[in-house]
Amino acid sequence: MKAYRADLLDFQRTPAWGDTLAEGAVRFRADHWLLVDGDGRIAGVQPQPPDPGIEREDWRGHLLLPGFIDTHVHSSQVGVMASYGTALLDWLNNYTFPAERAWADPEVAAQGSAHFLDALLAHGTTAAVVFPTVHKGSAEALFQAADERQMRVIAGKVLMDRHAPEGLRDLSASQAERDCIDLIDRWHGRGRASYAITVRFAPTSTPEQLAMAGALCRANETLYMQTHVAENRDEVKWVGELFPHARSYLDVYARVGLLHRRSVLAHGIWLDAEDRAALRHAGAQIAFCPSSNLFLGSGLFDWPAMLGADAAVSMASDVGGGTSLSMQRTLSDGYKVLALAGHKLTAWTALHAATRGAAQALLLADEIGTLEPGRLADFTVWRWAATPVDTERQRLARDLHEKVFAWMTLADERHLRATWVAGRKRFDATNENAKTTTRAH
Ligand code: GUN
Ligand code: ZN
Repeated sequence: MKAYRADLLDFQRTPAWGDTLAEGAVRFRADHWLLVDGDGRIAGVQPQPPDPGIEREDWRGHLLLPGFIDTHVHSSQVGVMASYGTALLDWLNNYTFPAERAWADPEVAAQGSAHFLDALLAHGTTAAVVFPTVHKGSAEALFQAADERQMRVIAGKVLMDRHAPEGLRDLSASQAERDCIDLIDRWHGRGRASYAITVRFAPTSTPEQLAMAGALCRANETLYMQTHVAENRDEVKWVGELFPHARSYLDVYARVGLLHRRSVLAHGIWLDAEDRAALRHAGAQIAFCPSSNLFLGSGLFDWPAMLGADAAVSMASDVGGGTSLSMQRTLSDGYKVLALAGHKLTAWTALHAATRGAAQALLLADEIGTLEPGRLADFTVWRWAATPVDTERQRLARDLHEKVFAWMTLADERHLRATWVAGRKRFDATNENAKTTTRAH
C-alpha cells in the first residue's frame, strides 16, 4: 500500500451542460489521501493520514486527477505537428503521408512508438485511442511499447488501399485482413490492450476493404472501430462522389457494419440530425478534436447538437492535426470553439469528457477515468500554477469552478509533476528537467 496527499478531483456523475456548480457530479476533496494497493489499484480516499506503516508521498497544495484519456491521436504524427499552410486533404498529401511512409521500418516504428507514449505520459495522458500507420509493424511496435509501460491503449493497423502513395497502401483485402487477424490474436485483450479496426477514412479504402473491415467487426463485437468522419467540407464532398449510394458520409460506415457501440469517430463537424440519431442509436462516440479543427481550419463542432441527440462526445488532441498533446490545451481550445458559436463549455463538462466520460463511452469505466476504489491507479499530480501570472490568477479565483477553469485555460504539460500508471510512477518532472538540462550542456 502507498498513500498520496493532494487536492483530489474527479467525477461521480455527468455534469449538466452549463452548470458551474455540478453538485453531486464533480467531487473535489481538498487535502485528502489517495491509497493505492500493491496491485496498482485504488484502495480508497480518506481525509486523515494513513497508518504509520504506510509509505507516503506528500503533494500537499497540488492537484491530483485521474490520468487523461485522449480518444484520438496519431503515434506517427508527433513530427507532423505545426506543418504550415494547408487544409486537410493537402495536409495529408504534403506532410502526413510522407511522414508515415518512414514507419515501414520496424526500427523507426519501435523508437517512434516509445517516444510517442513517453510524450503522452509527460503530458498527463495515461490512456489513448491511437492510429499508428498502415504498416503491421507500426501497430505491433505501439502495442509492445504500451505493454512495457502498462498503458491502456486501443489501436489497430491503419487500413488504406487507395488514394494514398506507394508504400502506404494495403496490397489486397486479404493481406490486410490477415494482418488484422494476426494482430487481434496477438494483442486484443492482452494486458491493457484492445484492438480497433482502423479504417483511415472512407476515401482511402475501396468498398471491398470497407466490407472486409465491417465483417471483422461483425464477427467479434468486443473489437473497437476507429476512423475519421465529416471533418472538412472538401472531404465530405469527395466522399459524396466516391459513395453516391450512401445517404451521408457516416452512412458509408453504417452500411458495412462499422458503426457500433465501440466505434470512435474523430471530428464529426459536418453531420446532420439523422447522422446524430444514428450515432446515438449505435452508441458510438465522436472524438472532438478542437485544436486540430482550428489548426486545419476544418470547422466548428456542434457539441450542443450532439447533446440534444443524446450522443456521446469525448476529447482528443488529434496530433499531428492538433498542435499539442496537452489535454488542458485541447480543452481550452474546445472552450474557444464553442464560444465562437455562442456556447459555453464548463471546466466540468470538459474535464469529465477527458476522464470519466471518455472511459464510459469506451466501456472502460470499471478500469479508468475516476479515483473510485478498484480502478487501476492511473493518475497525475499537477501544480495549480507555475508562473507569476497564473499564480496571481489562481489567487483571485473566487470559487472552485473559477479556479479549475483558470487552471484548465492557463496550465499545460509544464504544470505536470508526475504520472502514475497502474500505481507505478512512469513520468517524473524532476528527473526530466534534470535530463533536459544535462542534454542542453
Ligand atoms: N483524415 C484522414 N486521415 C487523417 C489524419 O491523419 N488526420 C486528420 N486530422 N484527419 C484525417
Ligand atoms: Zn486524426
